[in-house]
Amino acid sequence: MKRIAVLTSGGDSPGMNAAVRAVVRKANFHGVEVMGIFHGYEGFIHGKMELLNLGSVGGIIQRGGTKLFSSRCPEFKQNEYQLQGLEKMKEAGVEALVVIGGDGSYRGAKALTEKGFPCVGVPGTIDNDIPGTEYTIGFDTAINTVIESIDKIRDTATSHENSFVVEVMGRNAGDIALWAGLAAGAESVIIPEEEYNLDEIIARMKQGEARGKKHSIIIVAEGAISANDLAKLLKEKAGITTRVSVLGHIQRGGSPTARDRVLASRLGAKAVEVLLEGKSGRAVGIKNHQIYDYDLDDVFNNKHKADVSLYTLSKELSI
Ligand code: F6P
Repeated sequence: MKRIAVLTSGGDSPGMNAAVRAVVRKANFHGVEVMGIFHGYEGFIHGKMELLNLGSVGGIIQRGGTKLFSSRCPEFKQNEYQLQGLEKMKEAGVEALVVIGGDGSYRGAKALTEKGFPCVGVPGTIDNDIPGTEYTIGFDTAINTVIESIDKIRDTATSHENSFVVEVMGRNAGDIALWAGLAAGAESVIIPEEEYNLDEIIARMKQGEARGKKHSIIIVAEGAISANDLAKLLKEKAGITTRVSVLGHIQRGGSPTARDRVLASRLGAKAVEVLLEGKSGRAVGIKNHQIYDYDLDDVFNNKHKADVSLYTLSKELSI
């Protein structure tokens, strides 16, 4: 193998740059060239790419976002665009592709693999929702951003004796809410994986108040209910007034944590190893601290499971 390509696709996540750096440097170490494709699959279709070298990925390990830019590209589901992109790769002498992104991005990799073009998926999303890997690149930074924000919210919540409903991202997964809820000591956490009970949330707030708590913080995962809707329900049902804070895209930015940089470096390097071993249609992930590769189809044939034991623990500790 002489030349491969790398792209970042879907919602960006802190650590994507570190993964791109690892792909380029590991490949170069083995004498393989790497083309950086811009704007995800959109760039793949139109052949928007340039040769990356050791220097072009210098100074990016600490930067959030992605140097290669990212996009969501619905057209890539269509056969004609996949073929057009493959033609561009052929013209540029690109023999294989590393895709850094979420499960939507993996679908593109699967389609290309089925057309005989070797691909490897690297999990890059703050949502931590890719089956087969315990952690995705960007999750750790995102939860640290969330707890930093909640710590700040708690300061003003305490001063004004206000309760807050804080909405976090995660699409259909509750991982960000769960981890951040436990780490920030939220009074209640609502996630899509567990049915919530409004009466119980109200009772917990009242119980806290009775023992002198001046405020409560409720974290809702966007996939469960919106913060505004929950605030309305609390008002209607119990006359409780809350302030709402939707954290939004700040969760996707920022300098990656050490954990994300290390994970991205390990996974990016592993993706190259997998391609050099002549494998195709693989995903790389981490399980029990070990980096490994597995069948890309496993991502689609399995469902991500959030660690619901954290939910129970969070309830037990926030009484
Ligand atoms: O997948 C990452 C993510 O940030 C989700 O948590 C969120 O639901 C979605 O992307 C938001 O996407 P967009 O920026 O396209 O609105």
